[in-house]
Amino acid sequence: MTSTHAFWLAGRQATGEDTFDVTSPWDGRLVGKVSVPTDAQVEEAVAAAHAVLDEFAATPAHVRAAALDHVSKRLAERTEEIAQLISAENGKPIKWARGEVGRAVSVFRFAAEEARRFNGGEAQRLDTDAGGQGRLAVTRRFPKGVVLGIAPFNFPLNLCAHKVAPAIAAGAPIILKPAPATPLSGLILGELLAETDLPAGSWSVLTVTNDKMPALVQDERLPVISFTGSDKVGYAIEASVPHKHCTLELGGNAAAVVLADYSSDEDLDWAASRIATFSNYQAGQSCISVQRVIADAAVYDRLLPRIVAAVEAQGTGDPSDPSTDVGPLVSEDAAKRVESWVEEAVGAGAKLLTGGKRDGATYAPTVLTDVPAGVTLATEEVFGPVLTVQKVDGEAEAFAAVNDSKFGLQAGVFTHDLQTAFRAHRALEVGGVVIGDAPSYRADQMPYGGVKQSGVGREGVRSAMDDYTYERVLVLTGLAL
Ligand code: SIN
Repeated sequence: MTSTHAFWLAGRQATGEDTFDVTSPWDGRLVGKVSVPTDAQVEEAVAAAHAVLDEFAATPAHVRAAALDHVSKRLAERTEEIAQLISAENGKPIKWARGEVGRAVSVFRFAAEEARRFNGGEAQRLDTDAGGQGRLAVTRRFPKGVVLGIAPFNFPLNLCAHKVAPAIAAGAPIILKPAPATPLSGLILGELLAETDLPAGSWSVLTVTNDKMPALVQDERLPVISFTGSDKVGYAIEASVPHKHCTLELGGNAAAVVLADYSSDEDLDWAASRIATFSNYQAGQSCISVQRVIADAAVYDRLLPRIVAAVEAQGTGDPSDPSTDVGPLVSEDAAKRVESWVEEAVGAGAKLLTGGKRDGATYAPTVLTDVPAGVTLATEEVFGPVLTVQKVDGEAEAFAAVNDSKFGLQAGVFTHDLQTAFRAHRALEVGGVVIGDAPSYRADQMPYGGVKQSGVGREGVRSAMDDYTYERVLVLTGLAL
């Protein structure tokens, strides 16, 4: 018998009346049953978070930092168990699931460090003008209010961590809504937070179903929304609450550019191997997985076979097997959607070099060239293990091809030239440019987010803390400056 997982209501465990099942995308087995909060329990959590606003903002930094350090330490201690859980509920290969736990350990540790140095205040002398003689402005940041964190399924632990840890570090209460497909990892965070001394009400993990999300989004006691997920849902949320602060981490069709100077055998082997790995990690279900390769004509003919070979070397299979590189997508429907996009592209003239086959929820790592502009695969985020390769002539054409997208999350540029790196940084319409590696590199302490239809606002621990808070100025008068 599978026991029912309780949710976390204002820091304590609770169960509601209904449950839903969490199943493995790999073999369909039941991974857990999850209790769903009733409307009254949701109301209780929101009211508690709202009531604790002032107390939490005034909670000393050492208390919040100690709690964050505790969660970091406990995640590290329980790495293997949590990685198994991520892999079971999400289908993520165990080696990537272990990596995800390691990242969450760091996110909580970074948040503890940031909590200790946040908000010391900045002093600004005002006697630069006669009217400000004897006056000093001290600027500090204060929480905008309770944060509603809405997390996706693709990093069920770490993207919950990116909502929760900065909120605690900034002294903002948070209501976390994990993805219904993968709620168990978010609930583990609740378990670890419950071991701390944080005030009751300062955090809740509510396993509400998606149909209950609009009511939470509309709730005026939750003025900050941090959403990671699809552009369609993200923009619908933003449009429904234009007066709220929304951070939207949406999709992307990230490009890896390989330029003419990146041309030795060693260079091309490295580029091909990084591209193959990061178009297929988590079955391509990352907003910054490589979807487009844009290769200079000078290296294209030598790079393409290397990419195909490296993609074919990606081992698909059982996510619990440590040698598996590519597991299933989150559901069979998701794999069917990917299949239909590839079929559409091939029907329109694209060349399929490898892959293009589906087995249940698993889609084979796939490489295409000659993808006609206008097909879905060329314009939308595939969120699957599919890569398109395009030949261009020179740096300017390469950068224009990267920008020829409605998205702009991250880009990777394989070059050795420092001047090119700076030109890429200036030219590319994205939130992050990675030189000498795939666009999928994300360090959890750096700002992360997009431009264009990849979203607004930034995550990354310190950036999220800025996003959750606002500057308030204190003007002191009559001072001997
Ligand atoms: C995402 O899919 O946006 C998150 C990527 C990551 O954290 O590596």
